[in-house]
Amino acid sequence: MKTLETDRLVIRPFVFDDADEYRRLLDEAFGHESYGAEDTTRLLLEYHVIADKAHDALHQTPYEDRAIVRRSDGTLIGAVGFAACLAPFGQLRSFDGAPHRTSEVGLFWALFPEHWGNGYATEAARAMVSYAFDELDLARIVATTEHDNLRSIAVMKRLGMTIERNPLAEPHWLQTVGVLVNPAP
Ligand SMILES: CC(C)(COP(=O)(O)OP(=O)(O)OC[C@H]1O[C@@H](n2cnc3c(N)ncnc32)[C@H](O)[C@@H]1OP(=O)(O)O)[C@@H](O)C(=O)NCCC(=O)NCCS
Repeated sequence: MKTLETDRLVIRPFVFDDADEYRRLLDEAFGHESYGAEDTTRLLLEYHVIADKAHDALHQTPYEDRAIVRRSDGTLIGAVGFAACLAPFGQLRSFDGAPHRTSEVGLFWALFPEHWGNGYATEAARAMVSYAFDELDLARIVATTEHDNLRSIAVMKRLGMTIERNPLAEPHWLQTVGVLVNPAP
C-alpha cells in the first residue's frame, strides 16, 4: 500500500529496523507484554513488513499495521492499519442479523502515550478511511474496542462512526463497534 501523507503525518510501511520501537509501542499503549514477549512482537513486526509487500503482489486487502511518523521531526509516534475482523457482527443493529461470523475490514490505531491529545490518531485514521473508500472502494469500515476504552471510542466519533454496543455478553471480546458507511453513491 502506498505511503499516505497528511498535514502533519506520514503513514508508511513498517521496516525491519522499527522492531524495537514497535515493541515499545505495544508495551506502552496496551500494557507490558500484552502482545507477548520480544520474540512475538518481533514476529508481528516482521509480518507487517512482509504483508505490506505480499498484499501488494497479490492485489489483496492491505491488512497490516503501518507506521505513523511525524513530518516535523521524523519521530515514529504510533501505528495505524487495516485488520481483518472476524466476529458475529450480525448481533449488532447496523448489520443484517446474520447468525454466523463475518469478516469486516477494521481500523487499528495506537500511539505512544506521550503523543496522545494532539489529534494524531484521528488525522492518521482519516487518511486510512479516505484510502479505504476512495481507492479500495469499501462499502464500510469498522473499529472495535472494549466498552471502557473511551479514547478509542472518541476517535471513532471524530471519524463520524456510528457507535454500537454488542447487546449480548458474548463473545466477551466483541464489545463496542464503530461503523462508517462509504458515503459515495
Ligand atoms: C486510542 C488512542 C490512539 C487515542 O489517541 P488520542 O490522542 O486520544 O486521539 P486523537 O489523536 O484523536 O486526539 C484527540 C485529542 O487531541 C486534541 N487535539 C489537540 N490538538 C489537536 C489538533 N490539532 N487536531 C485535533 N485534535 C487535537 C483533541 O482535543 C483531543 O483531546 P482530548 O483527548 O482532550 O479530548 C490512544 O489513546 C491510544 O493509543 N490508546 C492505546 C491503544 C488503543 O487502545 N488503541 C485502540 C485499539 S482497540
